[in-house]
Amino acid sequence: MATSITVNGKERSVDLPEDVPLLWVLRDELNLTGTKFGCGVAACGACTVHIDGVAVRSCQTPLSDVDGEVTTIEGLGTPETLHALQTAWIEHQVAQCGYCQSGQIMQAASLLADIPNPTDADIGDAMQGNLCRCGTYPRIRAAIHSAAKASQGA
Ligand code: FES
Ligand code: FES
Repeated sequence: MATSITVNGKERSVDLPEDVPLLWVLRDELNLTGTKFGCGVAACGACTVHIDGVAVRSCQTPLSDVDGEVTTIEGLGTPETLHALQTAWIEHQVAQCGYCQSGQIMQAASLLADIPNPTDADIGDAMQGNLCRCGTYPRIRAAIHSAAKASQGA
């Protein structure tokens, strides 16, 4: 039976078993490949997307548990109007290989929605489940602080 989900503001109908992880719905069915597969067991954060603005691990979210609007990295900003975090990521040249970075940005966006001006400790708590094998953590932290300031007009 087809399931209807809203992704990046568009209603999509997917004809897949209800236990299929959202990650594979996004990547294989909807061709939204900005969301990455890292571990498959909610241990790395590469697959992070939002459901109603809250960061979730899409590798461990079955289609049947999607009960709100999904936002992926493709829907966070537009090429014309980048999200403040995307602008800060570019300014700070955060990415190295880039593989983890869509998950990092989605996690950080969820943090800023919750805590608009986070401390280093807030960032550490919120981001601890998002791993980066390239070790970009200092630049991620700096970019989150920049985005927070920019969003507040400071
Ligand atoms: S792929 Fe989902 S947390 Fe690693
Ligand atoms: S930039 Fe390479 S894994 Fe994070």
